[in-house]
Amino acid sequence: MLILGIETSCDETGIALYDSERGLRAHALFSQIDMHADYGGVVPELASRDHVRKLLPLCDQVLADAGCGRADIDGIAYTAGPGLVGALMVGGSVAHALGFALGVPVLGVHHMEGHLLAPMLEPEPPAFPFVALLVSGGHTQLVRVDGIGEYEMLGESVDDAAGEAFDKTAKMLGLDYPGGPRVAALAEQGREGRYRFPRPMTDRPGLDFSFSGLKTFTLNTVTAAEEAGELDDQVRADIALAFETAVVDTLVIKCRRALQQTGCKRLVIAGGVSANKRLRHALEAMTGKLGAGVFYARPEFCTDNGAMIAYAGCQRLLAGQRDGERIVAVPRWPMNTLPPVAEPRTNGLAD
Ligand code: KG4
Ligand code: ZN
Repeated sequence: MLILGIETSCDETGIALYDSERGLRAHALFSQIDMHADYGGVVPELASRDHVRKLLPLCDQVLADAGCGRADIDGIAYTAGPGLVGALMVGGSVAHALGFALGVPVLGVHHMEGHLLAPMLEPEPPAFPFVALLVSGGHTQLVRVDGIGEYEMLGESVDDAAGEAFDKTAKMLGLDYPGGPRVAALAEQGREGRYRFPRPMTDRPGLDFSFSGLKTFTLNTVTAAEEAGELDDQVRADIALAFETAVVDTLVIKCRRALQQTGCKRLVIAGGVSANKRLRHALEAMTGKLGAGVFYARPEFCTDNGAMIAYAGCQRLLAGQRDGERIVAVPRWPMNTLPPVAEPRTNGLAD
């Protein structure tokens, strides 16, 4: 079954073709980062308009790369939420129009489920059950995953997401949007031990996160350095390193707790922040000590992309799930309300 995946939830237009028998056939991504950089963050209306411009040319490009035509498509999956509603509507409209024209089923997919399942596209995918740490620009969640659609929320951020904290710290340090990779690059030049930032909510039991206090701590540190006339490139790098280390340590502590609590031996990390090298190395060290393993997607499939949507949609379409005639576009959508899917199947439609 050949599935066209469409991702337009935020500032990236991602398109992919996933074949249930042969795996990922082709994918393409257009990032709007340069357009939004002037504004220091994503401007929703500009995002929607750019998705309109890029979506169909990217679909044609992906079909050409895979040596296929539109008639070869057996189903279409698009991101139905959570995300910017105007941007979601663009992907949903194109998906439904194409599905209607081709006479193939269409399904709206949960963006975070897409992220969660992205490591399944790798040569050695994790087996169920596992604990997943979802760390993106909008979400920080720990989830026990027993199968596709079998999600038990173990903990989540009570305020800012980890990616959001990276983006805001970047702004304070005068770095461009999106801040995560830039803070990480600056931190490479930082001196260990120059600053020590708090590890929020690690001194009490539980698996929830809070990053807004850390953000304020960073702001106070930057302001104090500025007032003392000390805020040069080295000090900015020292602050970036102290911030990144604090976020990584906090995530590692909670992941260790989640593995111990559930008895799971596999940890999956997904979402934009899972591209962070310091986080990957620290989680590898921690899981190694526990005799557990850590799984993640290649960097381009950690951030938003069409491949994860094509994969997640394929599993659900194979199980017979599809939209009605309505386009689904939901800005908020709890992932644990999704219906379960039995073992991912590799052949034939369910109905
Ligand atoms: O998953 P994603 O592409 O979009 C959402 O669904 O939110 O995640 C984007 C977030 C941004 O906050 C970005 O700063 C962060 O992921 N990010 C990183 C890194 N790469 C992306 N944060 C830390 N280190 C990175 N290397
Ligand atoms: Zn995302």
